[in-house]
Amino acid sequence: MDWGMENRLGRLIQPDGHCFFLPIDHGYFQGPTRKLEKPWETIKPLISYADGLFVTRGVLRSCVDPSNCPPIVLRVSGGSSVVGKDLANESITTSIEEALRLNVSAVGMSIFVGSEYEHQSITNLGKLVNECERYGIPVMAVTAVGKELAKRDSRYLGLCCRIAAEFGAKVVKTYWCENFEKVVNGCPVPVIMAGGPRCETELDAFEFVHDGMQKGAIGLNLGRNVWQHDHPVAMIKSLRAIVHDKASVQDARDIFDEEKNK
Ligand code: 5RP
Repeated sequence: MDWGMENRLGRLIQPDGHCFFLPIDHGYFQGPTRKLEKPWETIKPLISYADGLFVTRGVLRSCVDPSNCPPIVLRVSGGSSVVGKDLANESITTSIEEALRLNVSAVGMSIFVGSEYEHQSITNLGKLVNECERYGIPVMAVTAVGKELAKRDSRYLGLCCRIAAEFGAKVVKTYWCENFEKVVNGCPVPVIMAGGPRCETELDAFEFVHDGMQKGAIGLNLGRNVWQHDHPVAMIKSLRAIVHDKASVQDARDIFDEEKNK
């Protein structure tokens, strides 16, 4: 691997091989998502626990302190909204020059396998990888499902992750599902788990994260289950312990309770 590529990946993926990215990119199609209306206020207490921040250039420039932030994964795809016709109709929205100017550690984009825009999003991934390889920038592919959350099973997500890897993504972000080992085992590059909508309890989040890590994920890109929670610092500390410190579900509960009661 080229030095620049390896260096950028090394900023994001920690020496233990694991990572915890904090995504705050939701506004690019959802607008002012609950608890992310003022992104800086939400993330300020959390950023010291994140190995990376997944964000668009607009929020990065307007809301993130350049002298106090973790490495950046820049979201570079978009073009549809929750009130539009189809969330899958995305293009690449941000140039490689912009990614370099912002000194990002990686870029991220969504693919929509099985959607009407499957071909467009997958070939966009190929084109983005072509560009990024020239400059040593890793690409994180996001296996997006739009509003069709029920699609998230191991057969479908395994297909999406493998396709993303075949097209050159350096890491793939996908959802946790039952039999998650099937997703990881069919994907030749590291897999990171997204959270999806808020779990009913923090225990549900600890359990799926723990299961996914046991089954081979290298980490998390998890947003709403952290910053929409009433105790976001307690959440991020507990989840981080599962990712980086081999914490069990019970350990994570104990860390959560201790932090919550401070
Ligand atoms: C939204 C994204 C998010 O980064 C991803 O869904 C992770 O966030 P959450 O844990 O809230 O689902 O790609 O466009």
